[in-house]
Amino acid sequence: MHIVPNQNHSIRQRASPSRLVSWLLMWELCIQVYKSEGAWGTVGSGYRVARTLRQAGGTMHEKPGRAFQEQTSYRRDTMEEHELDWRSKPPIYKFYNHAPVISLPIPAPALDEYPAPDLFTCVAKRRSVRSFGATPISLLELSRLLWASAGITTSYITPHGQDFYRAAPTAGALYPIETYVVVNRVEDLEPGLYHYRVAGLDILERPIAEGSHALEQIRTGDLGREMAAAALDQLICARAGAVFLWTAVFARSVWKYKERAYRYFYLDAGHMAAQLALAAVAQGLGGCPIAAFYDDEVNTLLGIDGETEGIMYMTAVGRPSRPFRSMTDERHTARPKE
Ligand SMILES: Cc1cc2nc3c(=O)[nH]c(=O)nc-3n(C[C@H](O)[C@H](O)[C@H](O)COP(=O)(O)O)c2cc1C
Repeated sequence: MHIVPNQNHSIRQRASPSRLVSWLLMWELCIQVYKSEGAWGTVGSGYRVARTLRQAGGTMHEKPGRAFQEQTSYRRDTMEEHELDWRSKPPIYKFYNHAPVISLPIPAPALDEYPAPDLFTCVAKRRSVRSFGATPISLLELSRLLWASAGITTSYITPHGQDFYRAAPTAGALYPIETYVVVNRVEDLEPGLYHYRVAGLDILERPIAEGSHALEQIRTGDLGREMAAAALDQLICARAGAVFLWTAVFARSVWKYKERAYRYFYLDAGHMAAQLALAAVAQGLGGCPIAAFYDDEVNTLLGIDGETEGIMYMTAVGRPSRPFRSMTDERHTARPKE
């Protein structure tokens, strides 16, 4: 589905209840951004996104969304059983075999330089952060973010070999989501585009966990502006230390789940983003999930076709320019009524 922004600004549009609601939602988003950032500078970007989405709403058909929900529903009376053809099961690893490979530091628990808060503190402290300082992310921090969202955490010996399981859950253990990183400011890493190599390869080029957890360098250069432009001009994509991008390799899950797989792509990516968000807080970093982007432009930036593999979701991560605020901070605690 393509969102086509309405170019015709000169035509005065008639007031209607739905237009009024969309205006209210737009201003609500701006106010949310202001509240979370406390600075009007960031509201500009929130306003631009909201305005583009509001204009898009003017020409977007509402039906595809409902048709999607309808056509991917399971129904007791129409469920069909189908045999899985294991010979045609798509591979669950993607490799850029000719790309330079950068090994990542072991993602050991964050006990050393930054005492990680416990899980519940991380949950309480997680907020969408849109304002980042100039200090880069360290390679170890990036490594932990990748591992906590997409890394291999265990393996089981099966009659067919060894199966590797990753940090985030995935429908049917099919792992359709690939992770890319646009690096703006990460210590010891050239700015550019990288792909996360989840598993290493043995001498017969079979995936193994050993030697895994690396980045494949797809291209170098400052991609921050291009990244921001593709994300509806959200400048946080240029200001963040790194932007994580999650794509779906559609065949991996369609093989088993047919049309229903299209629900699972978004759910799988959502799990990864949630784990990344908490791993960021645990290390004193902050992130902002981003789903407002021009799909074609992001796919082009990544060098994927959008047909066999397409962008699902993104998160900009960096070192917050302000300390975290949480409900337990005194200024946020509501005074009980007397
Ligand atoms: C699916 C999804 C898409 C989002 N897309 C954007 C986005 O494109 N730009 C942005 O600034 N925030 C985006 N957000 C962040 C939300 O605005 C934010 O989560 C919300 O205001 C609640 O604030 P909190 O995350 O601090 O709890 C997105 C969040 C989700 C879950």
